[in-house]
Amino acid sequence: MEYSHCRLLLVCTVLAMCLCSRGARGDGLTTNFYDYTCPRVNTVVQQHVFSAMRAERRMGASLLRLHFHDCFVNGCDGSILLDGDDGEKFARPNKNSVRGYEVIDAIKVDLERMCPEVVSCADAVALAAAYGVLFSGGPYYRVLLGRRDGLVANKAGAEKGLPSPFENISSIVQKFSDVGLDTTDVVVLSGAHTIGRARCALFSNRLTSTTSSGDPTLDATMAANLQSLCAGGDGNQTTALDVSSADAFDKKYYQNLLTKKGLLSSDQGLFSSDEDVVASTTRALVQKYSVDGEQFFSDFRASMVKMGSISPLTGNDGEIRCKCRVAN
Ligand code: HEM
Ligand SMILES: *[C@@H]1O[C@H](CO)[C@@H](O)[C@H](O)[C@H]1NC(C)=O
Ligand SMILES: *[C@@H]1O[C@H](CO)[C@@H](O)[C@H](O)[C@H]1NC(C)=O
Repeated sequence: MEYSHCRLLLVCTVLAMCLCSRGARGDGLTTNFYDYTCPRVNTVVQQHVFSAMRAERRMGASLLRLHFHDCFVNGCDGSILLDGDDGEKFARPNKNSVRGYEVIDAIKVDLERMCPEVVSCADAVALAAAYGVLFSGGPYYRVLLGRRDGLVANKAGAEKGLPSPFENISSIVQKFSDVGLDTTDVVVLSGAHTIGRARCALFSNRLTSTTSSGDPTLDATMAANLQSLCAGGDGNQTTALDVSSADAFDKKYYQNLLTKKGLLSSDQGLFSSDEDVVASTTRALVQKYSVDGEQFFSDFRASMVKMGSISPLTGNDGEIRCKCRVAN
């Protein structure tokens, strides 16, 4: 009797604590969400990203992109991590393309050991992206936390909502706007292409072929190099998105665009396309960031926080997954 009373009391206390802290933090995300429940969460993620990038520097870029592709579909809810035939990870923009799932798995195993069922997979992805940026030489920003994990993936949403390198800037701007991001965010966040790689299949439309004389907004020497990289392959050969400084997070991505050295059509279009939104907005931003790296870094911080706040599940919505690849 004594024992069950204690248990009851304990349950009540825990319940009260949960209710209180939930009330206090409201529905928003905060930087100190795990300060009491899992204070070493940042350190754990940081260590995993550090060692993954020591093994392969590109992994920083891959983790950044994983967060982007998570947030654009059902909000930042870890839905991209869910396995299964209907998974987002098998949608066209993600399949054979998005990387980093194993790093998130390893992070989650450590987090579950340390503070079981406390830290969401969606937050692990957001933190991993931030350290990927930092360890690539980019800006540090304090990641907002407190996202909960979604119960379902949305494959159709990924095919519809994620931008493609083959669409024009106006329609990319529209896709960002659909999730609450503006034209400046498009230009700033495209600066993520200062790191990482892309496959021939995603830019060979710009090269000379039997049906095309090649994209006039692509530098001729660069086009020739890409041509020989991609020739005869299956489209999976890769090259750096930023030809000037492949692995360094810097403003060179924007400088490349001024000299027709953007890799994807959607990169070069921000400077070279004849669309209205380019003339009115994106071209000038590209010029600004190409000379002002400080401004790029501070705007990048702000846009990442904004992207990381797309429709989060909070409060009692969603769950804290035990394993990132399956709902509980
Ligand atoms: C503006 C519209 C965007 C388009 C059309 C686009 C398209 C692409 C494509 C086609 C690739 C190469 C995929 C492959 O080779 O399989 C790529 C890679 C990448 N994207 Fe984007 N992207 C966009 C915006 C973003 C944003 C907002 C971020 C992050 C904030 C981002 C981060 C990255 C990174 C880091 C890589 C390299 C990944 C790696 O090396 O594993 N992209 N993107
Ligand atoms: C790339 O590799 C994947 C997996 O091996 C394969 O299914 C695909 O056809 C290849 N080519 C392209 C363009 O994705
Ligand atoms: C951009 O592409 C969309 C969809 O294909 C098309 O409807 C629109 O007219 C294009 N806009 C411009 C400015 O080229």
